[in-house]
Amino acid sequence: MTAEQLKEIISQMTLEEKAAMCSGDDFWHTKAVERLGVPRSMVSDGPHGLRKQDQSGDHLGINDSIKAVCFPTACGTAASFNRDLLYSMGQTLGQECQAEDVSVILGPAVNIKRSPLCGRNFEYYSEDPYLATEIATSQIKGVQSKHVGTSIKHFMANNQETRRMSSDSRIDERTMREIYLAAFEGAVKNAKPWTVMCSYNRINGTYAAENKQLLTDILRDEWGFDGYVVSDWGAVNDRVEGVKAGLDLEMPASYGVNDALIVKAVKEGRLDEAVLDKAVERILNIVYRFVENRDETAVFDRDKDHEMARKVAEESIVLLKNDGILPLSETDEIAFIGKFAKKPRFQGGGSSHINSHKVDSAMDMVAGMANITYAQGYDDAEDVIDEKLIAEAVEAAKAAKAAVIFAGLPDAFESEGFDRTHMRMPDCQNKLIEEVAKVQPNTVVVLHNGSPVEMPWVNDVKGILEAYLGGQAVGGATVDILFGRVNPSAKLAETFPLKLSDNPSYLYYIGEGDVVEYKEGVFVGYRYYDKKNMDVLFPFGHGLSYTTFAYSNMKLDKEKMYDTDTLTVSVDVTNTGKMAGKEVVQLYVADKESTVLRPVKELKGFTKIELMPGETKTVTFSLSKRAFAYFNTDLHDWHVESGEFDILIGQSSRNIVCQKTVYVESTVEVFKKYHLNTTIGDIMKDPLAKPFLKDILDACTMIEENSTEGEGLGAAAEEMQEAMMGYLPVRAVISFMDGTMTHEKLQGYIDQMNACHASSMHD
Ligand code: BGC
Repeated sequence: MTAEQLKEIISQMTLEEKAAMCSGDDFWHTKAVERLGVPRSMVSDGPHGLRKQDQSGDHLGINDSIKAVCFPTACGTAASFNRDLLYSMGQTLGQECQAEDVSVILGPAVNIKRSPLCGRNFEYYSEDPYLATEIATSQIKGVQSKHVGTSIKHFMANNQETRRMSSDSRIDERTMREIYLAAFEGAVKNAKPWTVMCSYNRINGTYAAENKQLLTDILRDEWGFDGYVVSDWGAVNDRVEGVKAGLDLEMPASYGVNDALIVKAVKEGRLDEAVLDKAVERILNIVYRFVENRDETAVFDRDKDHEMARKVAEESIVLLKNDGILPLSETDEIAFIGKFAKKPRFQGGGSSHINSHKVDSAMDMVAGMANITYAQGYDDAEDVIDEKLIAEAVEAAKAAKAAVIFAGLPDAFESEGFDRTHMRMPDCQNKLIEEVAKVQPNTVVVLHNGSPVEMPWVNDVKGILEAYLGGQAVGGATVDILFGRVNPSAKLAETFPLKLSDNPSYLYYIGEGDVVEYKEGVFVGYRYYDKKNMDVLFPFGHGLSYTTFAYSNMKLDKEKMYDTDTLTVSVDVTNTGKMAGKEVVQLYVADKESTVLRPVKELKGFTKIELMPGETKTVTFSLSKRAFAYFNTDLHDWHVESGEFDILIGQSSRNIVCQKTVYVESTVEVFKKYHLNTTIGDIMKDPLAKPFLKDILDACTMIEENSTEGEGLGAAAEEMQEAMMGYLPVRAVISFMDGTMTHEKLQGYIDQMNACHASSMHD
C-alpha cells in the first residue's frame, strides 16, 4: 500500500480510532478497524523459535504456546560466526511465521553482554557490538526475506534484569555510541528491521519508551529506520510523551486507558494530531506489508526445521579444550554421565520459551550404541551433593575408557527476570566432575549454560565442549561432535573470565537502587581484559577444531590512505590437517597511538570459510573509516586520528597470527579552541599557534634565566623544568613575570591563535 493510500485510510479514521490503533488489541495483536477494512495482525516471540500463544497470553513464557521448534539461543548462534547460517535460520523462522500468520517475530535481541551475570545473556549475542550487529543483520534479512517482520530489541542499554522496568542506565556519549548503540546500528542500517522494540529501562534519566533522542533523532533521522517502534511489554511510562518521542505502538493492550490520554492530549493541544497520524501510518504500513505479501502456501514443517536447528547447533558448539581426547572412538566403552545427558538444558526461561515439538538428548542419539553406559551423577532440581549418585557415576567412569559429563546451569540458575549473583556451577556438579576426573583421566565435560561459568576443574579434564543452550536438536549435534562426525567450528562470542571479580562491570553491576552507572566505559569484555593484560579462562574468539589451519601471504592494498578511502586486506588460509573443517578468520584493528583512551584492539571483520584437507582459500576484507574511528564527543561524530593502525588477523583475540600496518590520514581537522587554561605544551605542538606565543615564551625564558633553582642539577632537572613549563596553563605566566603581561594581553594572543585556526580550516 502506498503512503498516499495509507494517508487516505487515516484521514477517514476518528481521533479515537487513531489513538486506539497505537496500542494492542490484546497481548499479541494490533487492532482492526472493521468499517475501513483494516485487519488485525499478530506478533509473537522470538527470538530463537516461534512462541505463538493461541489462548491466554503472557510475556513470561508461562502459558502454553503452539508446538514449535527451538533453535539454539543467541549465545550459541553468535558463536557460529556464520552469517549465511543465521540467514538460513532466519528464513526458516520467517517461513514458520507465514505458516502461522504471524506478522512480526519479536527478536533478535542484541543487547551487549556487559556482565556474565545478566539473566538474559543466553538471549543476547555478544560482548562485542560488531559481532552482535552482523549476526543480527543476517538473521533479520533471513526472516524478512519471507515477508515477515522482525523486532530488534531491547533498544537499548538493557543489560540486566534487576529492576529492569525502572533502572536508569547512566552511560557517557562515547560508550553509548561505540558499544551499546553500535550493537543496533549496523543491523538497523543494513537489514532494515520492520520494527524496533524499545526497552523497559531509562537511559540517562529518560525511559526508552519516551526517549526522543533514541527513538527519533538517532533511530530515524540518523539511521533511516522506517518501521514502527513497539514498546516492550508494559514499558510505557507516559504514553503521550512516548508518542511525541517516536514510540508508535504500545504493547500489550492498555485497555483504553492510555488511548484516552492520547485523545485528551490532542484535544487540549498538547499533542499535534499530525504526530499521531504519523505513528498510525507507520503501524499500518507494516500491517499491510505483511498482509499484502501473505504466503498462504507456507507450511510449518517441524521435522524439517528440527534438522535446521541441528545444523545450527553443530556450528554453535565451541570446543574449548582438547588435550588429544576428542574425537572419541565410536567403539570404545564410554560412560555418559549427568542428568543433562538425558534431559539437556537447551533453552532459557521467560518470554523466549519454546514449546518444543521434540527434544533430542545425547542419550537418545546413542540409543543404538551398546558401548555407552549412563549414570545420572546429580539432580538439577536442587543443588544438593548426592554421594550415592556420585559413587555410581565414579563406578561407571572407572569401568569405561572415557567419561563424558553433561553439566552446566540448571533453570533456577539463570533466566529472564533475574540476574545471577555468582558465576559458579552448582556445587553438586563441580563435585561430580572432580570425583570422576580423579578416577578417569579421559574425562570430557559438555556444558549447557547461557553464560560463562567458573571452571575450578579446568585442568583436571582433557576436553571441554561448550554446547550453550543449543536448542532442541542439541543432543544430535553434540554426539556428532564428540565422535568426530562433525568438526567443531564455533568461537566464543564472549570472554570467559577466570572469576567474576575480573569482569570490568564487577564494581558497578547491578547498580545502586535504580541507578546503574556504566563506569567501565568502552572497556567491555575483551576490550578490558586486553587493556589490563589479564589472564582469562578462555578469550573472546577462541574455539578449537579437529583440524589445523595455517595463515600466510597477508596483504594490504595500500600502506597509506585517507580516512575516506577503503583498505583491502587479504590473507591465505590453508587447512593443514587431515579433516575438512571450517575456520573463522578474525580481523582486529589496533590504533597504535591515540589522544583518547582506546581499547588495544577491536574486532572489525570476520569470515567463516570451509576448507578440505590441503585446500587454501584467500579471504578478503574491506575496511572503511568506521573500522579506524572512535566516537569524538566534541564533533559528536566518528573520527579517525591521523596515525598508524595495526591490522591484526587472528584465530582468536589472543592468538594473532599475522599483522601489517597502515597509515591513515584524517580528512577532518579537530580543533579545540584555546583559552587561558590551555597549556604551553599543547600550544607548542601546534605550528599555527606557536608563532603567537613568542612574547609569552620570551617571558618564560626570562623566568628560566632568572631562576637559580635546578642549576647544576644536570639533565634530570632540565627535563623537569621543561615538563613543568609544558604543563603551565598560559594564564600562569602572569605570576612569573614582572607585571608586563596582563590577562587582557594574553587573551589577545589567544584570540589571534583561534582566529588563525578558524581561517585555516576554511581554506
Ligand atoms: C520481553 C520481550 C518479549 C515480550 C513479549 C517482555 O517481557 O522483555 O523480550 O518480546 O516480553 O513476550
